[in-house]
Amino acid sequence: MITLIATVAMGLESVLSRELKNLGYENLRVDNGKIEFDAELQDICKTNLWLRTAGRIFLKIAEFKATTFDELFEKTKKLHWSDWIGKDDYFPVTKVSSRKSILFSKSDSQAIVNKAVAESLKKSYKVDTLPETGGEFPIRIQIENDMVVLSIDTSGDGLHKRGYRSHMNAAPLRETLAAALILLSRWNPEEDALMDPMCGTGTLLIEAGLIAKNIAPGLKRKFISEYWRALSPEIWEKERSLAREQIKHDVKPRILGSDIDSGVLSIARENIAIAGLDDIFVQTLDMEDSSSRYERGKVITNPPYGERLGDREDAEKLYKKMGKSFRKNFKGWHYYVLTSNEEFETMFGKRCTRKRKLFNGSIRCDFYHYY
Ligand SMILES: C[S@@+](CC[C@H](N)C(=O)[O-])C[C@H]1O[C@@H](n2cnc3c(N)ncnc32)[C@H](O)[C@@H]1O
Repeated sequence: MITLIATVAMGLESVLSRELKNLGYENLRVDNGKIEFDAELQDICKTNLWLRTAGRIFLKIAEFKATTFDELFEKTKKLHWSDWIGKDDYFPVTKVSSRKSILFSKSDSQAIVNKAVAESLKKSYKVDTLPETGGEFPIRIQIENDMVVLSIDTSGDGLHKRGYRSHMNAAPLRETLAAALILLSRWNPEEDALMDPMCGTGTLLIEAGLIAKNIAPGLKRKFISEYWRALSPEIWEKERSLAREQIKHDVKPRILGSDIDSGVLSIARENIAIAGLDDIFVQTLDMEDSSSRYERGKVITNPPYGERLGDREDAEKLYKKMGKSFRKNFKGWHYYVLTSNEEFETMFGKRCTRKRKLFNGSIRCDFYHYY
């Protein structure tokens, strides 16, 4: 049995918790921005491949109290690091955080843990030097109320990197947040159409497509722990092929997108093709002119926020138009809008049915739901 920690953006813990329960995990320990749970070795592969809203998956090595650097060193050195880290492997301490604790110097904690792990490995492998040329084991130290948690990153690149983005543009929505918005809307692809009339590079549409077809979001990428000795290529291949078997090829979701900018739509089309979701349809249109022949559906969109000076007025004009055109062109649909603009409801011309506080990176937003 091992313990894994899945990180998640603040405010989305309940969405990740729902995902973990659907994958069969129980006894979840939910905290701010993270969920800890018991798992088996192959769950490192399964969670990295399947979780749509998690930022990264960490393997928890230990949790102990330390109020002096000596204590931090001795307790770290006693741990069985060689169960995971090989004689030639590279083990940088890449993340350190400290809150409400006596040990607050991040650089000292980093150097001490690094030295203690090296001492432990030298002793286990009976060597004097460690080349650190092999697989990578990025170590994370979190200290809170004098309790130290040591863990190893199993993901490498953040899990938002799905492998379908062809270019980076100015304001794409993070894939993990886009997936969370779709899951929060409880969209049912068998009953409802889905429309993003300001779809940009198509992140919401693609995440919806992956959900509808039950495609594991990590199937097109690599993870740092694929190169670990403890996780054989067979374990990874087994989890990957199980994931491939679960794809619902016959589901044909009705997912539509439009945007006023034809340049950004060509990126959306490339992303959609790389993701293998050819049945998503996008077209160049002003939001005011977008409509749908379907009676039921969900508009889910991430319009410009007008954060920069001068852009605010344009964004507010757009919100006014959105209110009018959604009510006219998407009668009977649910609308969901993510924006940081606190005057949104006034501009849109209607109080929302429900709203939820979320963060888009560091920007505090609300996810407005109208029905
Ligand atoms: C914040 S971006 C959306 C980013 C998108 N979620 C993504 O992941 O790439 C807002 C988008 O709204 C589009 N937009 C702005 N005004 C519009 C209008 N009147 N009609 C349609 N699209 C518009 C912009 O071209 C831009 O692509």
